[in-house]
Amino acid sequence: MSANAPAGRVLSGMRPTGALHIGNYHGALANWIELQYQYECYFFVADWHALTTDYEDTSRLPGHIHEMLIDWLAAGINPGVATVFVQSHVPEHAELHLLLSMITPLGWLERVPTYKDQQAELKEKDLATYGFLGYPLLQSADILIYRPAYVPVGEDQVAHVEITREIARRFNHIYGREPDFEAKAEKATKSLGGRMATQYRQLRREFQQAGSQGALEKARALVLGNNRITVADRERLLGWLEGGGVAVLPEPQVLLTKSPKVPGTDGRKMSKSYGNTIGLREDPDSVAKKLKTMQTDPARVRRSDPGDPDKCPVFDLHRIYSDEATQAWAAHGCRTASIGCLECKKPLIDKVVEFVEGMRRRAQEFEDNPELVQRILVEGGEKARAAARDTMDEVRRVMHLRGKL
Ligand code: TRP
Ligand code: SF4
Repeated sequence: MSANAPAGRVLSGMRPTGALHIGNYHGALANWIELQYQYECYFFVADWHALTTDYEDTSRLPGHIHEMLIDWLAAGINPGVATVFVQSHVPEHAELHLLLSMITPLGWLERVPTYKDQQAELKEKDLATYGFLGYPLLQSADILIYRPAYVPVGEDQVAHVEITREIARRFNHIYGREPDFEAKAEKATKSLGGRMATQYRQLRREFQQAGSQGALEKARALVLGNNRITVADRERLLGWLEGGGVAVLPEPQVLLTKSPKVPGTDGRKMSKSYGNTIGLREDPDSVAKKLKTMQTDPARVRRSDPGDPDKCPVFDLHRIYSDEATQAWAAHGCRTASIGCLECKKPLIDKVVEFVEGMRRRAQEFEDNPELVQRILVEGGEKARAAARDTMDEVRRVMHLRGKL
């Protein structure tokens, strides 16, 4: 990390669903693109996760991974600053998953809300499998192996980060004890350096005595941002903040993604399973056609009926793509019935088409040279593996398994 790099690592992943739609972009990707310039980011394609629900026909997996990666790159994920990789290229995820499975109570997994929900939702598939039950634990391994400070996810994934924190806590509690911990933690504090050591002590006191979460986060950032201390000391200092022992696997914080509402063409939430999407690289004519027939405020039956922009999915898209003046024009025209829906949609269509055309232009290079994508993955995979190996060396050491490989 360079001297002025921000403190903290960020990790997030996405299932390879194939080419993405504009809902995926505004829901997650746009956020990642911003984060990559603020944190040390690791972004990965969760291909093993796809197997937890789609294990029967895996033939389309390579294509889905490739298409999604092209979308990431065309959207602005920058492999020059972020580490981009595929989960299965880093087999250490599987090793950590196995080791964590030994200490994970079954009840914790059965209680994850998505377990029963998804089984009910996807009842055409047999999801009474070991892999499906263990999928939140695989996600915990994905996260903990990079020891990130933050995990940016949407609302639907918060429970998974929560169970990850519980598993980290349990792991540290079981394997994080060491003789003379206090004395070693004191020594580690000193090696932070004078001013930082004072700050660390003060923040730790603020957290332990007053329970200040802000102080805890600042202290964590201070420890994670200090690159003069050893890995072992970093774990001691993170562990000491909250009392306990060594934090071999620090508890990550969730970074809840604030995303705008992105309705699909039928007015429901945009989702591949509803067949109401607008692809990030969709053909511009097709985009225009879909928007022209997109659901509007159902109260506007005739051109002369006034409408309510707050009840119109098209207006939700205006909020994302149009400037203030256009939004004001559309809202007023709608309420007074002085414009028709097609007229209202016109400037929106122009903007969405422009956006999609930009995506297509930037994707071209990768579509023409698939080996470019492969090269990015090889490089990203090596970087990710180095980080994952560091964690596994520590995990094996504290579990009295074979040491460094
Ligand atoms: N489960 C996530 C999803 O379905 C994808 C995912 C897998 C993930 N591992 C992760 C997200 C680790 C964040 C961190 O969207
Ligand atoms: Fe929606 Fe615009 Fe039609 Fe109003 S005028 S209902 S905002 S498309």
